Amino acid sequence: MKITFLGHAALKIDTGSHTLVVDPFITANDLARDLIDLSGLQPDFILLTHAHQDHVLDTEALAGDGATIISNYEIVSHYQKKGFDGHPMNHGGAREFEFGWLKYVNAVHTSSFADGSYGGQPGGFLLRAGGKQIYIAGDTALHMDMKLIPEYGKPDLAVLPIGDNFTMGVEDAVRASDFVGCNRVMGVHYDTFGYIVIDKERARTAFEASGKTLLLPGIGEEITV
Ligand code: NI
Ligand code: MN
Repeated sequence: MKITFLGHAALKIDTGSHTLVVDPFITANDLARDLIDLSGLQPDFILLTHAHQDHVLDTEALAGDGATIISNYEIVSHYQKKGFDGHPMNHGGAREFEFGWLKYVNAVHTSSFADGSYGGQPGGFLLRAGGKQIYIAGDTALHMDMKLIPEYGKPDLAVLPIGDNFTMGVEDAVRASDFVGCNRVMGVHYDTFGYIVIDKERARTAFEASGKTLLLPGIGEEITV
């Protein structure tokens, strides 16, 4: 799998057969807007962890080209009512899609749309595709259910929020990496807003001190899993 960081918690995942976009928030992200061409992303599927604006903002623009939106039941229903294609899941459910195996897993956070309407409960994803596995935590606190992830596989990469304030910070992300059994971490959900600006060098050092690797790709940069 090739993973391109689109800024904040947004990712493009090339599975080799399909293009997935996770949590698209680009056009209102001052750090990403000029670096990412929304119309060039062309996803086949859009995966949404929860309904907050900083995760769903560009969903409709991207889904207009015929992408299928995958998320919890409430979020998918919201977009289906507007005429978009969607596939609803809920926590603990897994399914074989044409791009690979996907499980919607627990997160501890909230999930409302920008207008305050209900966005179901927040989640994360465990994805197996192209012979590799990645865990995408979504916005979340550190929580004990992360210890269930190794029951389903051994992630080659864990995508974890590290910005603190709204989600885990660096110290809890180091613990999360132990819980999910993956020492290769991609940090997301930092620096976008004043509340979540972090010292990146300190973050890297904290992971190194625990024998782990923290990847902080630049916006638009691609990493291979
Ligand atoms: Ni959120
Ligand atoms: Mn968020």
